[in-house]
Amino acid sequence: MPKCSLKTRILQLRVITCMFSILFLKAFIHFFVTYGIYNYPHLPADVLETQLYKRTAPSLVLHKSKPDCKYDEILKSTSSVQNWEVPKKFDDFSAKGLVNGTYVPEHCNPLFSVAIIVAYRNRQSQLDVFLPYMHNFLRRQNIHYRLYLVEQQDEKTFNKGVLLNVGARAALRDRFPCLVLQDVDLLPLDAGNLYACAAEPRHLSASIDKFRFVLPYDYLVGGVLAIKADHFLAVNGFSNRFEGWGGEDDDFSWRLTNHKLDIVRFPRQLSRYTMLRHRQEARNSQRRRIMRENRQRGAADGLSSLPRVAVSLAANRLFTLVAVRL
Ligand code: BGC
Ligand code: MN
Repeated sequence: MPKCSLKTRILQLRVITCMFSILFLKAFIHFFVTYGIYNYPHLPADVLETQLYKRTAPSLVLHKSKPDCKYDEILKSTSSVQNWEVPKKFDDFSAKGLVNGTYVPEHCNPLFSVAIIVAYRNRQSQLDVFLPYMHNFLRRQNIHYRLYLVEQQDEKTFNKGVLLNVGARAALRDRFPCLVLQDVDLLPLDAGNLYACAAEPRHLSASIDKFRFVLPYDYLVGGVLAIKADHFLAVNGFSNRFEGWGGEDDDFSWRLTNHKLDIVRFPRQLSRYTMLRHRQEARNSQRRRIMRENRQRGAADGLSSLPRVAVSLAANRLFTLVAVRL
């Protein structure tokens, strides 16, 4: 083997040091660019209940003999699950009280009716955790709710905006006053994170473990969002033009701002979520362009221009399936 000269060795060392320095600098910059907001502005913790939108669906039968449900203790609850404690299996899950994914508290009259809408395709292992976990979580909240699982049943590129619009249309038909748009891979960790709408659109998933429990940016509404049915209609729902991963939520956020609607949040210690692991889906490289075009067109595309899709509804004990073929 030829012997390296001192000069070559020094040069090699320099190249290696240089490469390490660049990599370190890159990681350093990345950390700060994606750091996000730890103490984001939020609704005052002691008056949360006064900020909530108390409204039930006309179909909900209220009983004179029962008292109104109480939410005070739930909102003040400090009980939380750590993300590593989230069960991966629910062998002894009971579906007690559930019919077509609908639940009505037994001992009191709820003050909230909430439609929970989940856009879905091909994530069976996540769904197996999501459904029992969410029903266990939600049945403790004294709310009337219905879970709509909107499944894209074709091979075309996933279109979350269309699915959420179709799900919202079904929930609006059932006259739910409040819609919660929820990702199937997100599980709430804090018992005090009441699934209810506020006067303004409410972003529930402000603190996700995947993002080191910080809010990536203040206009983010992706993940879990609770919005009054009236507001969803007013902003014309989601754009139908985003195919693949990303963009539709940022576009929706712009729609809210454009309608002078603020995004509100609960404090951090009530807004924690864990994200179930999955492969990163291919990002839609066109999303920024579509967003720019949508702004120019003033959100004309949306619920009002929903493309013709085949929709069928089917009842399941744990959810109402809204099957969609684009
Ligand atoms: C995407 C959003 C996504 C966010 C956070 C953005 O780049 O456009 O759809 O919710 O990142 O992951
Ligand atoms: Mn995800």
